[in-house]
Amino acid sequence: MRHLLDTQHLSREDALTILDIAEDMADTQHREVKKLPTLRGKTVVNLFFEDSTRTRISFEAAAKRLSADVINFSTKGSSVSKGESLQDTAQTLQAMGADAVVIRHGASGAPRTLATSGWITAGVVNAGDGTHEHPTQALLDAFTIRKRRFGDDSRGRDLAGVKVTIVGDVLHSRVARSNVWLLTALGAEVTLVSPPTLVPQDVSAWPATISYDLDSAIAAGPDALMMLRIQLERMSAAYFPTEREYSRRWGLDATRLAALPADSIVMHPGPMNRGLEISADAADSPRSTVLDQVRAGVSVRMAVLYLLLSGQADHDDEQKKEDE
Ligand code: CP
Repeated sequence: MRHLLDTQHLSREDALTILDIAEDMADTQHREVKKLPTLRGKTVVNLFFEDSTRTRISFEAAAKRLSADVINFSTKGSSVSKGESLQDTAQTLQAMGADAVVIRHGASGAPRTLATSGWITAGVVNAGDGTHEHPTQALLDAFTIRKRRFGDDSRGRDLAGVKVTIVGDVLHSRVARSNVWLLTALGAEVTLVSPPTLVPQDVSAWPATISYDLDSAIAAGPDALMMLRIQLERMSAAYFPTEREYSRRWGLDATRLAALPADSIVMHPGPMNRGLEISADAADSPRSTVLDQVRAGVSVRMAVLYLLLSGQADHDDEQKKEDE
């Protein structure tokens, strides 16, 4: 794998390979093998133009657990504030020896530009670009659903027949978009539930059913209910219902939680707006997988970095032998 830019173009086979390697990575963590030597000598740059807690820290943890060196870049305190461009920033980091660049950017398409422009030769991983995609979030969500369903027997299995309902601010959600493509590629049936004003214009091209009514979606008995964060920072008052109305019609509260099938799980990518899209009862309930998702994030990101960089390591070794 050269880059990971989206899930729309990720095949079922490649997705299963990532999930299965993530299972192996999770096993090493359970055996308390804190560090694998796999990426010794490699450098991963976390290039974050937007804030992040989970994604940035778990990429850092993933790279370190594979023995790679990590450089963390955030725009605050950098020369981006002096007007330095993405090209110059990326080339500067590559000159310092980056083998992989993990990028989060407010502009949809920035990771693809970095990967295809020829500015850098490092592998590129999309850690969230604008309202476009967040592929490793979808992979860790799929990993979590599969693990809850199949436990230790997860390897090689897809999500055929699994019903996933994604609720909330679909318009601004790169998590929703990546999940729709990935989960349906793995055989899941996806329903999107959203206020009519928070549905993307191109949603009819998405392989998902659209609903505006959370209670009827819950009555349909989803295996997983994924609540999305309301992205107040990207919202215009023109199309957001009041917070009170949103919470009443599309929020997951104790009553709706009780109406879910006994074995269905409640997911949220984080960070959560408690009391808005999800109540504390739901977020902290035994059926919540919020922290399982965070844990899965490290394993999935280890798998992605391994696939991106270990091929390069093999190639470098072969090259060295040829040179000798
Ligand atoms: N889920 C997610 O992307 O969280 P962060 O913004 O904290 O990385």
